[in-house]
Amino acid sequence: MATGNNLTWHPGAVARGDRPSRGATVWLTGLSGSGKSTVAVACETRLVAFERSAYILDGDNIRQGLNGDLGFSAADRAENVRRVGHLARLMADAGIVVFVPLISPYRADRDAVRVIHGAADLPFFEVFVDTPIDVCEQRDPKGLYAKARAGEITGFTGIDDPYEAPVQPELVLRPSDGTAEAMASAVLALLA
Ligand code: ADX
Repeated sequence: MATGNNLTWHPGAVARGDRPSRGATVWLTGLSGSGKSTVAVACETRLVAFERSAYILDGDNIRQGLNGDLGFSAADRAENVRRVGHLARLMADAGIVVFVPLISPYRADRDAVRVIHGAADLPFFEVFVDTPIDVCEQRDPKGLYAKARAGEITGFTGIDDPYEAPVQPELVLRPSDGTAEAMASAVLALLA
């Protein structure tokens, strides 16, 4: 992998306070089918309705383009999280509130994203969408749990691949917290 040898950060002439809006990253982690993307959509919709600059970097979408070269090994998931983490940091620096629904199963990978935001003095909020696997499996919106149980997909998170829950997330969302709209209210309160 390329290193930072012989590279110098070229600063811009625009200070963060000169930009029209303040950015942040809201990282939504949890199992497939936990509701991460649904909550992200509700959040983005509400912010944009209030003319706030917001965007979603969804794992399923990013993997169809920028990260189309990555699979689901531990190394590829780490690289997926690393790239999206850097992208989110840049977008947050640009003044956008970035919602990142990614399974991101490994604690160390998520913590590294937190560290690069801290180093850039940008707000980072980890939201654990804590939907139990039996609920996710019952929902099975993409039919992937059924395929994993049938052995058609191997290394599926929660079935035969690990998920490491956050230790100190800024917010935990459980099914008992209500609708996606109610959950979005709790997420957006982090930004207030
Ligand atoms: S992550 O683990 O690298 O963070 P990411 O959130 O980008 O995953 O992508 C997860 C999506 O990929 C799931 O919502 C699901 O649609 C699809 N997928 C395909 N294969 C797998 C797998 N083996 N494990 C988990 N998700 C998978």
